[in-house]
Amino acid sequence: MSGGEEVLFSITRAHLDTGMRGFPVGTCPLSDVDPVKGLSYGGYPIAQLAERQPEEVIYLLLNKQLPDAAQLAAFRQELIKNSRLHPEMLEKLSALPRHGHPMKWLMSAIVLMGMYSGTGDYRKDCLQVIAQLPEAVAAIFRIRSGWGELIPSKPELGYMENFAHMLGAPGAGPELIHLLRVFNILHMDHGGGNLSTFVGKAIASGHEDMYGSLAGAMAGLAGPLHGMANQECLRFLKTVAKDIKDPSNETQVAEYVENLLNSGGVLYGFGHAVLRVEDPRATVQYALGEKIAAKDPLFRLAVTLRKVGSEALKKRGKVSDPYPNVDAVSGCLLSACGLADESYYTVLFGLARCVGIAAQIAWERTEARGGKGTPIVRPSYLYTGPEIKA
Ligand code: MLT
Repeated sequence: MSGGEEVLFSITRAHLDTGMRGFPVGTCPLSDVDPVKGLSYGGYPIAQLAERQPEEVIYLLLNKQLPDAAQLAAFRQELIKNSRLHPEMLEKLSALPRHGHPMKWLMSAIVLMGMYSGTGDYRKDCLQVIAQLPEAVAAIFRIRSGWGELIPSKPELGYMENFAHMLGAPGAGPELIHLLRVFNILHMDHGGGNLSTFVGKAIASGHEDMYGSLAGAMAGLAGPLHGMANQECLRFLKTVAKDIKDPSNETQVAEYVENLLNSGGVLYGFGHAVLRVEDPRATVQYALGEKIAAKDPLFRLAVTLRKVGSEALKKRGKVSDPYPNVDAVSGCLLSACGLADESYYTVLFGLARCVGIAAQIAWERTEARGGKGTPIVRPSYLYTGPEIKA
């Protein structure tokens, strides 16, 4: 049997209307999510990459190999050269309604970026969008939060260092830069089939440009079952904290979790469609939290929940993944380091995830199938409506 005829998955009726959970629909050479080993980029487990420089990891996702020193220096220059937003873009952002959710601002910013500087070339636009997004996202924070004048970009500081500089978050501690670097790397990519990436690639398969495809992808990320789960997880932690006197008291927290689950409530930050172990991105963040936020009450609560939450879910059985995922702990670290408003957390996720989505779109459009690109996405739906009249 040739490779092309190999049976990978048999679809039965029971598989229909289940969100294509686990159906292989394509190939992706950039990143992988193994149910047990978790996330890897270009063959490197995420835990080995988390403390590297974001620029090295972006290079890895774009080139499928880590850069040597000369390649990294040249790539940094490319990012710096492409990093400036069109000045009119900032005026347009300033006109957006303040009450709109920050994710709506991000989608608008990406569409505007395309109108001002899109080239129509997927590879060029991939680099450009990655280079420009930090300034756009910093502007979203400052304009929408009323933090005052925009802070001029200094891209030579480094990709995430410049972002933290332009953010100028009032009350941010010195640990914020470290956290933002790790957060950015952990959230850059998650295989080919997560909702936002899949949607972005599907849009691009109709030959919509990079910016329209990414804006659509960010609409996918904005749902609370996907990227906005980080916002919801912090809200959940804050709610639990109101009823718990000592966040490290396992008995108290376990009792809370039991009552919550018995009354049909949701334990936010647990479970994943693919993973069957603790999300390695969560593992990295728990370890980082012990270094940068060890005394923060919400972080301590997240650590207690890590244990008692998993125990409660395992006891109940029937849960395919009773372990914490990436969102269980990211929000409390961001809040401990000075970014208190959780409605911006998904924008930080988007800033990172656009790297992986843009890289996957560029690969599908310019390299896949010997350079022909993947065809337009067009699955079929089985008709179950009224009988078709003759
Ligand atoms: C992600 O990072 O995209 C989420 O963990 C969701 C997913 O992989 O489906």
